[in-house]
Amino acid sequence: MSASDIYPPPSEVSINAHINSYEKYKELYDKSVQEPSEFWGEIANSFYWRVPPPPPFLRYNFDVTKGDIFIEWMKGGVTNICYNVLDRNVHDKKLGDKVAFYWEGNEPGDSMSITYSELLGKVCQFANVLRAQGVKKGDRVSIYMPMVIELVVAMLACARIGAIHSIVFAGFSAESLCERILDSHCSLLITADGFYRGDKLINLKRIADDALKKCTEKNHPLGKCIVLRHLGRDDSVCDGTNKTSPPCKRPCPDMQTMWNPSRDQWWHDLIKDVSLECEPEWCDAEDELFILYTSGSTGKPKGVVHTVGGYMIFTATTFQYVFDYHQDDVYWCTADIGWITGHSYLTYGPLANGATSVLFEGLPIYPDISRMWQIIDKYNVSKFYTAPTAIRLLMKYGDEPVERYSRKSLKVLGTVGEPINPEAWLWYYNVVGGKRCPIVDTFWQTETGGHVLTPLPGATVTKPGSATFPFFGVVPAILNESGEELEGEAEGYLVFKQPWPALMRTVYGNHQRFETTYFKKFPGYYVTGDGCKRDSDGYYWITGRIDDMLNVSGHLLSTAEVESALVEHSSVAEAAVVSHPHPVKGECLYCFVTLRDGHEFTKTLSDQLKNLVREKIGPIATPDYIQNAPGLPKTRSGKIMRRVLRNIAKNDRDLGDISTLADTSVINQLFENRCQTVH
Ligand code: WT7
Repeated sequence: MSASDIYPPPSEVSINAHINSYEKYKELYDKSVQEPSEFWGEIANSFYWRVPPPPPFLRYNFDVTKGDIFIEWMKGGVTNICYNVLDRNVHDKKLGDKVAFYWEGNEPGDSMSITYSELLGKVCQFANVLRAQGVKKGDRVSIYMPMVIELVVAMLACARIGAIHSIVFAGFSAESLCERILDSHCSLLITADGFYRGDKLINLKRIADDALKKCTEKNHPLGKCIVLRHLGRDDSVCDGTNKTSPPCKRPCPDMQTMWNPSRDQWWHDLIKDVSLECEPEWCDAEDELFILYTSGSTGKPKGVVHTVGGYMIFTATTFQYVFDYHQDDVYWCTADIGWITGHSYLTYGPLANGATSVLFEGLPIYPDISRMWQIIDKYNVSKFYTAPTAIRLLMKYGDEPVERYSRKSLKVLGTVGEPINPEAWLWYYNVVGGKRCPIVDTFWQTETGGHVLTPLPGATVTKPGSATFPFFGVVPAILNESGEELEGEAEGYLVFKQPWPALMRTVYGNHQRFETTYFKKFPGYYVTGDGCKRDSDGYYWITGRIDDMLNVSGHLLSTAEVESALVEHSSVAEAAVVSHPHPVKGECLYCFVTLRDGHEFTKTLSDQLKNLVREKIGPIATPDYIQNAPGLPKTRSGKIMRRVLRNIAKNDRDLGDISTLADTSVINQLFENRCQTVH
């Protein structure tokens, strides 16, 4: 088999699939885009509405030349997403005893499960706690937690009382957390003592403390912090001071030294004797559900806002069709809840369907390289969703660690986060899925809320590396630089022509930035920022970002945010960051730095700069390369020619047109300096 082959859906999958043929897909697709209100209206009817959505079902303006951009689905409809994903399953669908999550900890053997009714109880209890802390509808709550059940509890508790959650991935730095707390004016932070990533202790509370200190310095003192005892759950093992005898093998952070009694409260103290019942706050479909920050090309992250109703019906529907979900499935999405994939396809989408999911705290190759496959067999996972970077990492170890486990439960494999190279696709298909399981390569963004280009496992003939066709309600187009729509086989800017229910509604606190970023370049379209090609069969192939953004291990970063971190160093006058291919991460950071006069480029400086970026943004942003650049290639108007820098990084002397370059002498110097690159 080669990458140019096509892969029809296996008949074992098609036979029971919700959408079992391309014709069926096409029929529903046509309806969804021609009559979106009718199509989504029928889907909305299967949810619980206190007040059903009144007409019009959809109102929007996508054209900046005609006024403000807005998108409204089901406005006036009154519901609660937490009620729909929990109470409805427990009471109406009688799924109370069904497992909602199998939690698998960092250490093998550290595991537990929680049913739908237990989860409902915990969510209600914590929702009551939040109310007692004074959190009201519309208030923002920041959540900075490891991959534990309580993270789901915290987010759903917010949703239950109409508070807006803003989850910050626990790999982000104190600075990043502070910036996000300030931007969304959060009034309360929920965090944990710490967690282990493999054998490394992450002292989460200490990082959170640093962030809160920075918030105070910036005149936004945060009065309340709820702390989950995760590592120290079992008091008899570790007392938190690490003075137990015999000494605890996996010490917890010493919480006593960092406790601020006027601000910090233990989660377990707050829930004592609190009721397991809680009346939901009834919300408008267009009330804000959450804010999730994503990198922006100016360097300042954007608070992407999603609202209750549209996000609910779209994540539920995509989950059902894209993974061809059935009630006896066990589903596992390896993403962290701190990213959009974890919001849509670990929490809201699966729970809305009453699914059983695996929630994994650990790392793919800890304590050994077979961990993933061992978990698949342990829980009989049937639908598995991961990222190309994880597939490439695991692929390095060959087939044997995979083949040690049966994986016979697997039915559908998914991928997300970046373009998947055909080699990784084929390995995923042939080795992991044993040539039995269709692969759904799902293209989407934090902004799109859910899958927008994706195969359906029982209906779509796939091609390795292509995200294939649009999901229901999604109308893609490819534009050239002048904004003309290209027909047939073409390559250009990927845009969308009309909204689907989960498209973001605004950038928190900055609607203008929303309009400029996504709607200004090509009026009348939502612009993704990705390049895309359509082949002669109409398949879509994402070619990668075409703005100043890069995708490291599936995480979007902007070159500007890394540059602004680098120039904070006293030796650095100027910095230019470009994306560089990386065998596992997909892309990595290659940084060019121009030093101030009198400063010398050394290994120590290079290490300091790497650490600086790590501290400012987080470990995922650690540069792979720092190169000394006495001069940078600039146009006469002073714009850095990143295209040229990308070639220099790759040692590719074919620089294309450099006629706009102000000073060509810098080029040779930069090629020469490549050898001094400190890895
Ligand atoms: C960017 C969005 C959506 C959840 C994870 C990332 C890239 C995402 C694919 C895919 C090619 C992909 C795009 C997109 N991307 N999925 N299947 N094929 N590229 O969310 O951080 O908002 O990043 O990830 O470049 O714009 P995000």
